[in-house]
Amino acid sequence: MSYLETAGRIAREAGRMIHSKMNSDFSTEQKSSVFDVVTEIDRASEQLIRQRLMESYPEHGFLGEEESFAHAGELADRLEQAKTEPFIWIVDPIDGTNNYVQGIPGFTVSIALASYGELIVGVIYDPCRDEIFWAEKGKGAFMNGNPIAVSDAVELAQTVVGTGFPSKAANRQAVMTSLQEIAPQCRSIRSLGSAALHLAYVGAGKLGAFWEYGLNAWDIAAGVLIIEEAGGRVTDTLGNPYNLSVQHVVGSNGSVHDALLKPMKPIGI
Ligand code: IPD
Ligand code: CA
Repeated sequence: MSYLETAGRIAREAGRMIHSKMNSDFSTEQKSSVFDVVTEIDRASEQLIRQRLMESYPEHGFLGEEESFAHAGELADRLEQAKTEPFIWIVDPIDGTNNYVQGIPGFTVSIALASYGELIVGVIYDPCRDEIFWAEKGKGAFMNGNPIAVSDAVELAQTVVGTGFPSKAANRQAVMTSLQEIAPQCRSIRSLGSAALHLAYVGAGKLGAFWEYGLNAWDIAAGVLIIEEAGGRVTDTLGNPYNLSVQHVVGSNGSVHDALLKPMKPIGI
C-alpha cells in the first residue's frame, strides 16, 4: 500500500470514529487558554492514527497536535529537526475542535507526510460530509477520487475568502486587523472553524483564498500540498515560501495572492 493509500485509510478510520462519538458525553479540557480546548476524542483519534502509522512505518517520525501540546516549549526545535528527517507524519486528529464540541459539522482529520521538510502526501477527511481531499507531490489533487483545481477568480471581488479566529490574543487581533481591509474587497468571508477544511476548499476551488495567523504545522501541512497540487500558491503572510515552521499563512488560487498579502502586517508570535 502506498503512503497515500495508508494515510487515506487511516484518515477515514479516525474520521468515522470521531463522527460516531460526536454527540456522546465526552470530557473536554482547557489547553493554552479558555479559548483553546481539547476533548478525550482528540486524544483517542491521535492515538489511533499514531498507532496505525507506526504499525505500518515503525521507522518514521510522528508529530501530532495533542502530543506536541504536552511539549509545547520544544515545538520550534522539533519542527527544525523534522526538516532533516527522511519521513515524518504530521497529524491533526480533529481540526475544528470547537465545532466538534459545539456539535457543528465542519471538523476534519488532517494527515501529512514530509520528507526532509518537503511535503509529499496530504490527506484531509471531513467525516460529516464524507469528503476526502488528498494530494501527492507531483501527482495532482483530488476530492473523493475526482481531480480538483483552484478557482479561476482573478480578483478579490470574485473571491470568497476563508479565515479563522485563533485562540491567542495577538494572532486574533492580527486576523481582525487584516479582515478590516479584506472584507470590503472580496465577495464574501467564511469562517468554517477548521483551517484544514479551509485549505482543502481552496484546493477544490470552493474558496478562492484563506489566511490565518498563529496556526501550526498539523493544521496546515496537508492543506498546503493540496493547494499546491491543485494549482494554487501558499506562503506565509509576508509572502515567503511555506516551510513546516510557518504559522501565519496565506493560501490562494495564485491570481489573488498578492492582493491578499497587501493588508498583512508582520507580528510577533
Ligand atoms: C483550530 C482550527 C480553527 C483555527 C484555529 C485552530 P483545532 O485548530 O483550525 O479553524 O481558527 O486557529 O487552532 O484547535 O481545532 O485543532
Ligand atoms: Ca488544529
